[in-house]
Amino acid sequence: MEERSQWGTRAGFVLAAIGSAVGLGNIWRFPAVAYENGGGAFFIPYLFALLTAGIPILIMEFTMGHKYRGSAPLTFRKINKRTEGIGWWAVLVAFIISTYYSVIIAWAISYSYFSFNLAWGEDTEGFLFGDYLKLADTPGEFGSLVPGVFIPLIIVWIIVLGVLVRGVKRGIEIANRIMIPTLVVVFLIIVIRAVTLPGAITGLDAFFKPDFTEILSPTVWVAAYGQIFFSLSIAFAIMITYSSYLPKKSDITNNAFITGFSNSGFELLAGIGVFAILGFMATSQGVGIDEVVAGGVGLAFVVFPAIINEFPAFKEFFGLLFFLSLVLAGLTSLISIIETYVAGLSEKFNISRTKSVLFGGGLAAILSLIFATQGGLFFLDAADYFINQFGVAALGLVEVILIAWILRKLGVFKSHANEISDIRIGSWWTISIGVITPIVLGYMMFELLRLNITKGFDTDTGNYEGYSDAFIMWGGWAVAIGALVIGIIFSFVKWKSNET
Ligand code: PHE
Ligand code: NA
Repeated sequence: MEERSQWGTRAGFVLAAIGSAVGLGNIWRFPAVAYENGGGAFFIPYLFALLTAGIPILIMEFTMGHKYRGSAPLTFRKINKRTEGIGWWAVLVAFIISTYYSVIIAWAISYSYFSFNLAWGEDTEGFLFGDYLKLADTPGEFGSLVPGVFIPLIIVWIIVLGVLVRGVKRGIEIANRIMIPTLVVVFLIIVIRAVTLPGAITGLDAFFKPDFTEILSPTVWVAAYGQIFFSLSIAFAIMITYSSYLPKKSDITNNAFITGFSNSGFELLAGIGVFAILGFMATSQGVGIDEVVAGGVGLAFVVFPAIINEFPAFKEFFGLLFFLSLVLAGLTSLISIIETYVAGLSEKFNISRTKSVLFGGGLAAILSLIFATQGGLFFLDAADYFINQFGVAALGLVEVILIAWILRKLGVFKSHANEISDIRIGSWWTISIGVITPIVLGYMMFELLRLNITKGFDTDTGNYEGYSDAFIMWGGWAVAIGALVIGIIFSFVKWKSNET
């Protein structure tokens, strides 16, 4: 049995946790979500969610990893023999996310390259869907591989699996030590340029102007919790895995606060940068902010290239910086997602890290090719939509109910965290995890199910036109339930190592 890997330094662990948290969600998801849910007023539910769910669950997951020193399946098994399947379920969802997250990073690599001569031209939408992605006409239909996506996708997998093969300290830690500081510098340059563009202030006004009319609406609160869960990479087995490599003597609570606040700080910075740039665009076209606001793929690969075209100077340079920041933010998150199943496989089957990287990562790499085909975008959209909506709520809900109410572990975990941490946690933590989070997530799940049954999928973002509700619904549920069933089956497979 190989000795368990460990982080080399405290900063190494914290940077890796921040690297996982800071991802595409910070850059293209948070600004739009905040704007649509009350602008400045959104900070109230957002902060509330951070303090009653985000940081408390981070503390819980750090404690679980540190105490049981195992991947998510092993940790859940050590807590209770019958819950190993939950760990595999989370790992399998992480596996699915990795198959499409990698593809978006591949697009960002292509666009970094396109920046050198602004290859996207004037019609940025036509370029993305037509020239670049070569979208098939019918949703759900397979086409052939798109070389422009395939090549950068191979590069992504070589980088990521190369880092993972080198291990926790020599691979993951070093990669984050390089990529995260670089990301911060690159992003600061973009934000400084953004706020000094003409019209920037209009965008910032729109972003920060508080709209309190909807503040009591449940949708706003659900949006805040959803953003915090996704953004902090909690309930996806990631933070349990990363904290299982902490040395015995480590602070837990403090590290959770640093990770949580850094991620939110980066989100705020992205909000400022994105809206300053949108303000510039709106002003130069003489339209309102509402007409240029976007999130997700549309923001990054359609609106941004169009804005770069309008930049007063150094267009190519700023285009490159922007897409480079997507690449860096994405890679560090992707590494953390894949580590969940690399760790799980190598512990369960007692195989070396190299082998589990090759089997697990290799399989994900092959499956990711589906999204590199013509029409792959439809699958990607459907998967992302479903995981964002249901994955977060379902995994988080099962986790907190299990730990707080069924296995009743909060007391044990609290003492464990307090024994080794500077900051002591008390009833704030217990109430957040035992009461507030289950209520909010339970409501979230209930509402999502109700809306789906009564109205079908709410596809108001406009990204999903073209395929039927049934396509997303059956596809999404088949995959989610399939992951749970496979997870349970996995938990019955005999452990090849004697770690348990
Ligand atoms: N936290 C990442 C982000 O903000 C996304 C992510 C979610 C990464 C789940 C891994 C797992 O983009
Ligand atoms: Na994030």
